[in-house]
Amino acid sequence: MSDAPRQIFVTTALPYANGTFHIGHIMEYIQADIWVRFQRMQGHAVNFVGADDAHGAPIMIAAEKAGKTPQQFVADIAAGRKQYLDGFLVQYDNWYSTDSPENIALAQSIYRDLLAAGLIEARTIQQFYDPQKGMFLPDRFIKGECPHCHAPDQYGDNCESCGAVYAPTELVNPFSALTGARPELRESEHLFFKLSDARCIEFLKNWTASGAVQPEVLHKISEWLAPGDDGKPKIGDWDISRDAPYFGIEIPERPGKYFYVWLDAPVGYLASLKNLLEKRGESYDDYMAQPNLEQYHFIGKDIITFHTLFWPAMLHFSGRKVPNGVFVHGFMTVSGGEKMSKSRGTGLDPLKYLALDMNPEWLRYYLAAKLSAKNEDVDFTPADFMARVNADLIGKYVNIASRAAGFINKRFDGRLAALDAEGQALIEALRAALPDITQSYEAREYGRAVRSIMALCDRVNVYVDTHKPWELAKAPENDARLHAVCSACIEAFHILTIYLQPILPRLAAQAAHFLMVPPPSFSDVNIALGEGAQIGEYQHLMQRVTEKQLDALFGKNEAPAPAAEKAPKGKGQKKPAAPAASDDGAISFKDFEKIDLRAARIVECRRVEGSNKLLLLTLDAGDKDASGAPRLRQVFSGIAASYAPEDLTGTLCVLLANIPPKKMGSFGMSEGMVLSASGADDVPYLLQVPEGAQPGMRIS
Ligand code: MSP
Ligand code: ZN
Repeated sequence: MSDAPRQIFVTTALPYANGTFHIGHIMEYIQADIWVRFQRMQGHAVNFVGADDAHGAPIMIAAEKAGKTPQQFVADIAAGRKQYLDGFLVQYDNWYSTDSPENIALAQSIYRDLLAAGLIEARTIQQFYDPQKGMFLPDRFIKGECPHCHAPDQYGDNCESCGAVYAPTELVNPFSALTGARPELRESEHLFFKLSDARCIEFLKNWTASGAVQPEVLHKISEWLAPGDDGKPKIGDWDISRDAPYFGIEIPERPGKYFYVWLDAPVGYLASLKNLLEKRGESYDDYMAQPNLEQYHFIGKDIITFHTLFWPAMLHFSGRKVPNGVFVHGFMTVSGGEKMSKSRGTGLDPLKYLALDMNPEWLRYYLAAKLSAKNEDVDFTPADFMARVNADLIGKYVNIASRAAGFINKRFDGRLAALDAEGQALIEALRAALPDITQSYEAREYGRAVRSIMALCDRVNVYVDTHKPWELAKAPENDARLHAVCSACIEAFHILTIYLQPILPRLAAQAAHFLMVPPPSFSDVNIALGEGAQIGEYQHLMQRVTEKQLDALFGKNEAPAPAAEKAPKGKGQKKPAAPAASDDGAISFKDFEKIDLRAARIVECRRVEGSNKLLLLTLDAGDKDASGAPRLRQVFSGIAASYAPEDLTGTLCVLLANIPPKKMGSFGMSEGMVLSASGADDVPYLLQVPEGAQPGMRIS
């Protein structure tokens, strides 16, 4: 290790401030947080910042819908961030916002520099205008088919399927996502950042090849920099302005024009850093001017182009420092599910995880064990999670301390003995792994680091099993050996804890307390606690994950049986078979697609003679008979205690249409099931579909 501490500036992508964090965000933050903690343990100076990405039309529109100003809307989201970050032990030095004075000043200043460099050009373009809404449509609110790979339902700015970046006017069959209207083309003057300028292409080729991006990412980028059929680079000039109304930063000397959100969003990295340094009374300019400053951005694979083309070019041609590395990770999926929706996340709700008192370090460990430096997806499966935490983390590592500490405390006054030769050799072997483990962390190969550490745990456990302290403890003449063996275990535990500390910071702090040592750095693995060292009382360091917790996390056993199924209880009817669920209770999207849920009009609703529970519904669920005439269905539902028939007639409900018809005792056949919610008291609340929907519409 070189002597002078490195100066490192680290960021994670700035989340859109129109939603709470989902587990994909948390994965990114944990990945970065582990790296930052590792660098600090190496003695380096790190500033680690995040912020909310506040601007853009989607947030403006969401705020309008919520009846708030965009500022209020964003502030409300921001207020919710801390509980996630604290909860998962992610320790930013600053969390800020792109809607801040620092960001406005920095974005405008970068723009002025690019203008002076001759890289900004005004052009009149044709842009989609929603005649119904009376505004130019933001890219995200125009949808259509990707012009490159023809994936349907893609946004107007880039394709989530093939990653192409394009103009919304290139979309095939566009429509307004706000009103569904076919947008009209209107003229407007826009500002462009001339990325296709030869200077930019040359810079980007050099920068991307300089080792700043992973090989697989470089491969992808090279396609964009390569000339297309017309001899020009595939990457076009970048439209950086938007017309009012827009929630964003005004463009200097261009009234009514705002920076496109992706122009000012990465500038938010610098704004958050500046805000942090100035709060500390330090100079941002001096900090950025340090020749040895290293700057790294952790991001997901969907925002590569913005970070590896636009952003470095903006920085370079405005005379600023360019990133040393952009670290791209894959997406987190749950139980092999398809790519998680960016806005809706997945079934793994981070706040629910915390509310169930599940240990954040389990997740940190699990993710670390699965993460590599590659841009690869990471899948969470409950069974795997449980195995790795209980069998590896607790079974192999935590148990080392719990097995040895009791004897040291009870029999030897809490003091360690000198090690015997074998114990000493074990400790030397653990120390010898230091270069390999630090190298793995440095390279973000956390999975490799965890495998090395677990292999070391295995060695310690072999040592324990060979010497069997519990046997030694039976005869007083073995006291000295017992003392030496347990002391070796405690020394080993100390080293392993240092290795795991970037991943398990809280456990490491508890362990440091128990071992009575100050917070360690990595090189402390070479310093023995030593003969005579006092240790404290051992408190259990970590609980096991239980199946019950995982069931609760994924909502298993929570959904009450639908009312229609409850009514004839005790008549030997079985619950409908759940769609093929895997062991952990999760179903795939394919399974979900098998469920035919539809909006159905209650054409008629009657009481059922002889039953005080059932109502008989006649439903129009969009079915047609062979001649094309509407075919109505008859469905029984156990909701009579909650609804008068006349209240329901004419309304729209949710029908499970592809459950086999069922005989309801002597009352007749039920051709489907209407859905309702109920709690412990069994009082059903019928699910209704808002007016405007048509009978037969698929619910998905
Ligand atoms: N606001 C932009 C980023 C601007 S950076 C100057 C944005 N926000 S986001 O909220 O959609 O995504 C934030 C980060 O979360 C991105 O790095 C994105 O790749 C990451 N993830 C979103 N979904 C994810 C998973 N399912 N798994 C892992 N990371 C994911 O994009
Ligand atoms: Zn595409």
